[in-house]
Amino acid sequence: MTAGKFITFEGGEGSGKSTQAMMLADRLRALGKNVVVTREPGGTPLGESIRELILANRPALVAEFLLFAAARAEHVATKILPALDAGNWVVCDRYIDSTRVYQGKLAGIDPHLIDIVEKHTSKNAWPSLTLILDVPPATGRVRASERGDLNRYDAEKISYHEQIREGFLEIAAREPRRCIVIDGSKSTSEVAGSVRGALSARFGVEA
Ligand code: TYD
Repeated sequence: MTAGKFITFEGGEGSGKSTQAMMLADRLRALGKNVVVTREPGGTPLGESIRELILANRPALVAEFLLFAAARAEHVATKILPALDAGNWVVCDRYIDSTRVYQGKLAGIDPHLIDIVEKHTSKNAWPSLTLILDVPPATGRVRASERGDLNRYDAEKISYHEQIREGFLEIAAREPRRCIVIDGSKSTSEVAGSVRGALSARFGVEA
């Protein structure tokens, strides 16, 4: 058992995860909580190096899956678990559901392989709450291109992003106790309000 809470944000391109993760962390800090904000792939020096490798190359699909997994194993062992054990709240931009959707649903990696690797990388760091920011791909695309940092995943065609959206919604339907879907197409402050509502519904935190 850990004292801290582990919250993950998931969603497609331009869904506003990173902004909302930061805003939530600020809000929790203002309430006196110790918060660690992190992201995947990344979050550790090794993880950030792996992130660069993945985004700069086009690894073979199984290689890519294993690189994400390696970054996660390091992240959980050296950052997430120690932070939770010390009683921190951990807010993470992308986690296991991104692997299930991008590598499982989209890239066709064997679900048994995904499950077993997930158990070994993440079983002791299971999110208390996953907030899925749901945005129509066309809206997400406009936001991501305005931001000017489209990565090679973002540059895929709209049908690919429709499947990503569907993948996250399927997970939310399968795991309603862990996941809450939030309409990410609204304004930043409205979405932040929904995030606070989700926190207070789940944890009784008047965030
Ligand atoms: P990032 O810039 O973080 O994307 P975004 O701004 O949309 O969050 O790039 C990370 C990319 O890696 C993103 O397109 C999704 C992908 N990804 C996976 O395919 N599998 C994973 O397990 C994770 C964590 C990310």
